[in-house]
Amino acid sequence: MSKIYITTAIPYVNGAPHIGHACDYILADVFARYQKGKGNEVRFQAGTDEHGNKIAKKAAELNIDIESYVDENSAKFQDFIKKLGVSYTDFVRTTDENHIRRVQEIWKKLENHIYKASYEGWYCEGCERYITEKEYEENHGICPDHNKPYEKLSEENYYFRISDFKDQIRSAIENKTMEILPEFRAKEILNLLDDSPDLSISRPISQLKWGVPVPGDDSQVMYVWVDALSNYITVLGYPENDISDFWPATAQFVGKDILRFHAIIWPAMLLALGLPLPKKITSHGHVLSNGQKMSKSIGNVVDPIEVLNARGLPAFRYYFLRHIDTFADSDFTWEKYDKAYNNELANDLGNLVQRLANLCKKQNLGGLDFTPVRDSKYDEIMDSFYFSKAFDYVWDKVQDLNKEIDDKKPWELGKFPEKHDELVAILENLATKLLQVAYLLEPFLPDTAAKISDVFTAEKILPPTTPLFPKN
Ligand code: MSP
Repeated sequence: MSKIYITTAIPYVNGAPHIGHACDYILADVFARYQKGKGNEVRFQAGTDEHGNKIAKKAAELNIDIESYVDENSAKFQDFIKKLGVSYTDFVRTTDENHIRRVQEIWKKLENHIYKASYEGWYCEGCERYITEKEYEENHGICPDHNKPYEKLSEENYYFRISDFKDQIRSAIENKTMEILPEFRAKEILNLLDDSPDLSISRPISQLKWGVPVPGDDSQVMYVWVDALSNYITVLGYPENDISDFWPATAQFVGKDILRFHAIIWPAMLLALGLPLPKKITSHGHVLSNGQKMSKSIGNVVDPIEVLNARGLPAFRYYFLRHIDTFADSDFTWEKYDKAYNNELANDLGNLVQRLANLCKKQNLGGLDFTPVRDSKYDEIMDSFYFSKAFDYVWDKVQDLNKEIDDKKPWELGKFPEKHDELVAILENLATKLLQVAYLLEPFLPDTAAKISDVFTAEKILPPTTPLFPKN
């Protein structure tokens, strides 16, 4: 049995969750369930990123005191994760006292690689990062992700000497001891690494109040990413606990927009702390809404709770794990969502369960002796982290089973008493195959898999009284 540690990006709490936020959680959940299915012990972190001016300004705008504001939004994320059926084990808030204390300890350990200097340049508050002159020029002074002009900053800050670690990071990426997925993103990171200057890791308190104070210097507050990235180890109790059971992480799940922080700054911090690098960093694409980036100004932000309430959790997980490609940007529209539900979940799977259970019921079948088998092709795709492809693979099996029923026409055999044994053998074989499909489906749709398994392993097979995916 191996010990597996899985992490997810911690969202900013400057608003409620949107559908894009589901990606990290459900992808990590698939991996967690897959690992547990293989008998491994899983620790699975989630959390919320609660410091920084972006959040402080939002609370001020709404005239809410900042503590209540972050409490309220963090609760919305916690509620959301639970509703998604995510099997996390640890939840960290960057405003937790333990986290703050530990981040300050981490800072002290980084001190050999920190120096003070003045900074003059550009900053994007939406990204919470400094912008190079080159980027500033390429984007004509306006952040393409946030559609806001970059701010000019001139201040005295602490710097972290990323340059001390570039060679080690480069070789870890190249020899895949820290593997970045998908592979084309690893190449992007290697290119960025050359251009990465030392990182300004603090702000004067006059500019940023809502953050973790720099130990030993009351005039400075930590850069929010130093505080946020540390969550992956503070939640394990670093530095006072020995975290070697679960660190290095088996897999860290992040969106493509924040890969650079996880693949450059975070490894540099870990190396400075003398800790090993994560084994994999996997970066997913973005969910688009009606073909466009979601944005409040376009008015196309989709509320995930509405999507969940519309058709229930299995439908949500189905769409976001299969039709949202694991690595590429993909689209959500209500029309596509309804179609996937009716044509695939209800017709392909729901009907299959109903149809086969009815046929088994007529022959009084039950008490099947089923032992799941590991499927090497499935494991290979799952191990590549391309979960939407693994889901396609399982769905092909659903369709193969439908085809096999159509071809074998068991309802016709039922008309001939002398073919009874043949019919029973066919039905038992089909039911066993469906149980195996349910086994492969478990990481994706755990509730549906459990229902299918209950139906076909019962002493007497009976179709579910309500179909798994009723049409409406
Ligand atoms: N607070 C930082 C992460 C710190 S991790 C130490 C942050 N927060 S965020 O709220 O902007 O994003 C949280 C996660 O949601 C990121 O992985 C991000 O890529 C992901 N997504 C944000 N919008 C998304 C979509 N439209 N689609 C898919 N994922 C999206 O970045």
